[in-house]
Amino acid sequence: MQRLITCILILGFVSPTLCLGSDAGTKMRYFNVMDYGARGDGTCDDSNAILSAWQRTCGAEGPATLVIPSGKIFLVTRLKLEGPCKAPGIRIKFAGKIVPPAMDAWAGDRSSWIVISYVNGLTIDASGGINIDGYGSTWWEKCRSCQRPTVLRFHACNGLFVNSLRMTNSPGAHISVNGCDDARFSQININAPQHSPNTDGFDIASSKNILIEDSTIGTGDDCIAINGGSSYIYATRVACGPGHGISIGSLGKNKSQEIVEEVYVRNCSFIGTTNGARIKTWPGGSGYARKITFEQIKLRETQNPIIIDQNYGIKSPNPTDKAVKVSEVTYRGFDGTSADGKAIDLKCSTSGCFNITLDQIHIVASQPSKPTYASCKNAHGKVGYSVPKVFCLSK
Ligand SMILES: *[C@@H]1O[C@H](CO)[C@@H](O)[C@H](O)[C@H]1NC(C)=O
Ligand SMILES: *[C@@H]1O[C@H](CO)[C@@H](O)[C@H](O)[C@H]1NC(C)=O
Ligand SMILES: *[C@@H]1O[C@H](CO)[C@@H](O)[C@H](O)[C@H]1NC(C)=O
Repeated sequence: MQRLITCILILGFVSPTLCLGSDAGTKMRYFNVMDYGARGDGTCDDSNAILSAWQRTCGAEGPATLVIPSGKIFLVTRLKLEGPCKAPGIRIKFAGKIVPPAMDAWAGDRSSWIVISYVNGLTIDASGGINIDGYGSTWWEKCRSCQRPTVLRFHACNGLFVNSLRMTNSPGAHISVNGCDDARFSQININAPQHSPNTDGFDIASSKNILIEDSTIGTGDDCIAINGGSSYIYATRVACGPGHGISIGSLGKNKSQEIVEEVYVRNCSFIGTTNGARIKTWPGGSGYARKITFEQIKLRETQNPIIIDQNYGIKSPNPTDKAVKVSEVTYRGFDGTSADGKAIDLKCSTSGCFNITLDQIHIVASQPSKPTYASCKNAHGKVGYSVPKVFCLSK
């Protein structure tokens, strides 16, 4: 009976063929949050309704879609969409908008807001306007140095595809990808003001085979941060700015080994960012960052377009000996302007960075009166064509 009602309700705005024969195992079934008690008025808490619709979606026998319809605003205090799911190939059709309670009404755990975990083969198809508004401004003012939630966390989701998602104003980081293998994020738009604290676009950790493509990210911190345990991470056609650039790390704050390898950042731009291609490691760390390529990079008024900082997080100018090892880093095809003279800054630990390659670099200062220059400490490798000229790299 419930199924029948659901079908009748869905019939109105999905396809009339969908509900024919619920035993048709391969037919997509739709679970609309409105049928599970969601109000979508931006005032009532819709968390439980969305969760109920999710449980039906996740438990379906055949392919299933959770529908978050357009033209509605869903207030959600907390959402945990957990797998593993019975349904092979789950979709979320995300056309409406999700908003959090005001900061003062926030209850419990402040580390995350929406968590999707242990769901394999999930596709999130978002579209239209802003899908998630984190209402971050109160947090940035009143909770600058206390814990602010990450808006959307994916944990242990393999075979993930997120398309056309638009997010704005997260209290903390926007999207965290942790423990995932094979995820693709396409046409993601993330937007928070330059002054908003620690509002990273993507935080990736302990994950592999992750692609972020055709996306625009402007925040108050890293557009993409690639942290320990990550490999085969690809960023292509990502426009970053404002923000702190695309960063490997920071690594090495943790006393355990931290490893990042096989990272390819290609055909991306850094517009008005405080860093471009960045590798940052804390002194005293262990592990390595290697096989990292930044290429076809467009710059405009970028501060620190190319930077390795192995002295991250401390004021002391003296590099330390023990550090995350940095090697096989290629910078190829950088073109545009830096905000000030320092275009290339390779500050390695006293144990050195090795096999650094610079080629086809053309970085001039945005004020023509200030020539650009390169600076290195303990950096080893080779240079092809480069403006500014790089004399400081050792063999
Ligand atoms: C680089 O990306 C832009 C869009 O951001 C695209 O128009 C262009 O074709 C890409 N170039 C290459 C060589 O892939
Ligand atoms: C430090 O490493 C441990 C073990 O790998 C991990 O569980 C923890 O989340 C890490 N902490 C930070 C701040 O990265
Ligand atoms: C640097 O490259 C050379 C030649 O490819 C290789 O033999 C060496 O192991 C590399 N060293 C590091 C630290 O990556």
